[in-house]
Amino acid sequence: MILDIDKIRLDFPILQQKIYKRPLVYFDNAATTQRPQQVIDALTRTYTEYYGNIHRAAHFLADKATEAYEQTRDKARELINAENREQIIFTKGTTESINLVAFSFGEAFIQGGDEIIVSEMEHHSNIVPWQLMAGRKGAKIVMLPIDDEGRLQIENLDSLITDRTKLIAVTHVSNVLGTINPVKKIAQIAHSKGIRILIDGAQAAAHLRIDVQDLDADFYTFSAHKMYGPNGVGVLYGKKELLEKMSPYQGGGEMISEVKFAGTTYNDLPYKFEAGTPNISGVIAFGAAIDYLQQTGIENAAAWETELLNYATDQLLTIPGLRIYGTQAEKSGVISFNVEGVHFFDLGTMLDKFGIAVRTGHHCADPLMDHFGIQGTVRASFAFYNTKEEIDVFVDALKKVIAMF
Ligand SMILES: Cc1ncc(COP(=O)(O)O)c(C=O)c1O
Repeated sequence: MILDIDKIRLDFPILQQKIYKRPLVYFDNAATTQRPQQVIDALTRTYTEYYGNIHRAAHFLADKATEAYEQTRDKARELINAENREQIIFTKGTTESINLVAFSFGEAFIQGGDEIIVSEMEHHSNIVPWQLMAGRKGAKIVMLPIDDEGRLQIENLDSLITDRTKLIAVTHVSNVLGTINPVKKIAQIAHSKGIRILIDGAQAAAHLRIDVQDLDADFYTFSAHKMYGPNGVGVLYGKKELLEKMSPYQGGGEMISEVKFAGTTYNDLPYKFEAGTPNISGVIAFGAAIDYLQQTGIENAAAWETELLNYATDQLLTIPGLRIYGTQAEKSGVISFNVEGVHFFDLGTMLDKFGIAVRTGHHCADPLMDHFGIQGTVRASFAFYNTKEEIDVFVDALKKVIAMF
């Protein structure tokens, strides 16, 4: 193991605490990760040393805040290897990034009768914005199905594509199954037919090295709070030629060039899409989270998380009646499961009493639940600060809970 996990854990104050007198085991990282002290300090420093409204004022505090805010844009650009910093648009999170594209791409490029392909394993935030847009524009959503291993049936993609298909919306990593989708291949198929692709990177950006140029993504979205950063901050990456043709998503301060009652002209990228006062301190602290992630090394994190995934999977599969959903080889550190005869909600509630935080429910992926004919699952999801000892505690507690039913 390359990472010193004991040392890393000391950076995360929240992990040091006890829940119901037991050491916290935090396995809800796919919902949101915890923050290292470096990120908390960056947030505090912004408020105590250089807080001012960005871009607008000619005073020291505003200048300093603007500089720090814009530095995060450079760091985010580097993180995903975007061509230019103007292609990094700050949003509230993945949800807002996708809504922005659904609205503005929809306005610019979608006509009545056009089609958008959306995969069956998507989070609701990569389904509903497209449905809203389709409702407005008279477009149609076409579903790309998965198989029972949780693999996208991309061999069916050709038969789903028509001359009305305009965009494919697909997640890089499933938040339920952990499946890592072949998004580069899907982008190639899409582009060979003049179709655009939006990749939802919410579950990927902290766990895989992302290169938007190599993937040839038209749009790529992610959230800081799933990457050891603050909540309320996200990124939309887009190809410049598309972003330039798209109209603003929201109107307000900062996104304009000139406002007259006779008509308004818009600011350049990325500001055209950043109306109003953004989450200044959050974006600045996101810069510290990116630094932390880069210093840890995403490849190192991914290698350790895969080790945790394999270790946990092997142990869980020894439990009679336990079924894991998502059994593809290309998988990130997410395990969704059910145990015959025990409701997932009861399992989650009882595990909590052992100090273990897991997620239960449909994980905002109803169509995926329908595919497997279930209402929900228990989901354990790992980050690089988790340990094999925690997995032992989890599996042991799970066995005890099952024995109670
Ligand atoms: C795959 C996926 N997409 C989108 C989202 C939405 O992210 P956010 O709530 O940060 O906007 C999530 C959150 O769980 C997710 O897992």
